[in-house]
Amino acid sequence: MCGIVGYIGKANAPSALIRGLRRLEYRGYDSAGLAVLDGGRIEVAKAAGKVSSLQDRTRELWDQDFFNRITTGIAHTRWATHGPPTEVNAHPHLDQSGDIALVHNGIIENYRNLRSRLEAKGHHFHSETDTEVLAHLIGDCDKGDLFQAVCDALHQVEGTFGIAVLSSREPGKIIAARRGSPIVIGVGDGESIISSDASAILAHTQRVIYLDDNDIALVTIDGVDIRDLNNVPVTREVAELTMSESAAEKGGFEHFMLKEIHEQSEALSNAIRGRLDLEAGSSVLAGMGTSPRDLAELTRVVLIGCGTSLHAGLVGEYAFEDLADIHAEVQQAAEFRYRNPIIGNCDLVIAISQSGETADTLAAVREAKQKGAFVMSLCNVVGSTIARETGRGVYLHAGPEISVASTKAFTCQVAVLLMMALRLARGRRLSREDGLALAKDISAIPQLVQKVIQQEAHIAELAKDYTKNDHAFFIGRGPMYPVALEGALKLKEISYIHAEGYHAAELKHGPIALLEKGTPVIALACDIPGKDKTIGNVEECRARGARILGIVTEGDQEAADCMDDYIMVPRCHPLVATIPAVVALQLFSYHVARLRGCEIDQPRNLAKSVTVE
Ligand code: M6R
Repeated sequence: MCGIVGYIGKANAPSALIRGLRRLEYRGYDSAGLAVLDGGRIEVAKAAGKVSSLQDRTRELWDQDFFNRITTGIAHTRWATHGPPTEVNAHPHLDQSGDIALVHNGIIENYRNLRSRLEAKGHHFHSETDTEVLAHLIGDCDKGDLFQAVCDALHQVEGTFGIAVLSSREPGKIIAARRGSPIVIGVGDGESIISSDASAILAHTQRVIYLDDNDIALVTIDGVDIRDLNNVPVTREVAELTMSESAAEKGGFEHFMLKEIHEQSEALSNAIRGRLDLEAGSSVLAGMGTSPRDLAELTRVVLIGCGTSLHAGLVGEYAFEDLADIHAEVQQAAEFRYRNPIIGNCDLVIAISQSGETADTLAAVREAKQKGAFVMSLCNVVGSTIARETGRGVYLHAGPEISVASTKAFTCQVAVLLMMALRLARGRRLSREDGLALAKDISAIPQLVQKVIQQEAHIAELAKDYTKNDHAFFIGRGPMYPVALEGALKLKEISYIHAEGYHAAELKHGPIALLEKGTPVIALACDIPGKDKTIGNVEECRARGARILGIVTEGDQEAADCMDDYIMVPRCHPLVATIPAVVALQLFSYHVARLRGCEIDQPRNLAKSVTVE
């Protein structure tokens, strides 16, 4: 989604801004722009398309002297919501006077009313965006104090925003503010950097301050002064970033997605390390923050998320019910928010989100808190809004996930959910013996995953036969059903092959009508309860000419013989087996997409962090 960078310091600001924007490219965007202060003037450069086009544009417009003397600016990557991804709609937007520039993430919901009001006062707009309206509103409120003008304008705004504002009348400062859209400020040595994402700050400093909702910050070369929208000072802690710059690089892999698939062993080790109790057959998750008494009083677990995180929640549902003997259910965050869910104080609500910024999941968290549930989060991005608003939960420690297609976050989400379920289960009815068996298999996950990754050459070879189809079906039962859903999502989002995941039993209730000679059916046929029935469904598909790729358990030649092609994954606990199985599907999807020449890390129309409803 949209990305913000602001720079104020001593260095060449256009270069710092472009470098920051490059760090945000992975979020998905379709135009870019920047505004810089040159003495008493604001200069703007914009381009539809990629940051490289914006960089070319700046070189056409400005010479080296200009680059060297500019030390303050704001920049943006836009993912179109209001108006197409054209140069004129790209940010920054200027106010009526042309003295104030603004970049904005989020949506101004009452922009039509504001626009009509401003037009009645003689304002003239150039773009179709809600952001230009906010720029004009700030200009309209400006009576000689930019900070106060931004406060006054934001009081009139309904919706969400993360913003950075610049005025040629008040050089030496950038104003930043947030409501519902993240803003983080890097406090460097003689420079300050504003961004919507900490990864754009790493090149400058590890010391950052996260703004809370309704915070407004005066950012200068010397630091940050933060207030609320009533201009009352507030204190925010300086945090230390733990990710390194190299973690945001491709490290020799052709794509971030492949790098992140390969990183899974290590990511899973980090997610699991120190969290298993191999004596008690349980787990130690301090962030859950529940006493054994609280755990015993819970009557239901509700897992909420979107996309891949929702699929991880579906595996969690099986784990909580099966292990902890507690009613568990998964709800789509977008639906949860509006359906007036029945939630009470004996419900544990777990919000699952890699980014910790997904708008629907965040709204669902607020709704669950409002209704008195015991809410916790499972996020990857440290300090993200969902992690902070829930206040308790467990971080994945998967490291930065740059590729839009989620891979290592999914496997770490499942691993952590299994540990959460194990902890709850041991406080309820699971025996030490059964707890130990599961804990041992969880501790072996990094090695199990490595065994699948070692088969990459075989999987890449298989992929060659699956690149020409328009459709594919993924089927599974029990905990392998969500794996089928996730496999289909991975294939469709990066290869643009239409893929659907179904419960294996569901095919014959409709979708089987679509099978033709050669239609790929990817069957999750690992040796877990229900396998024989899945193999029965495979036979039904074969009888109709489908080409079957089976994910089967190592040594299960009988199952392998029922398939046209197969990938073997190691034998382990049925819930744990979801992780190596999905890794096989991630590699399969990656190689199909690569052979089809797709833009794997930034698939069309997609964004890494979905901060709009
Ligand atoms: O950051 P989140 O986990 O909340 O994101 C939710 C979905 O947008 C995300 O999982 C999406 O489905 C994946 N990028 C797909 O690979």
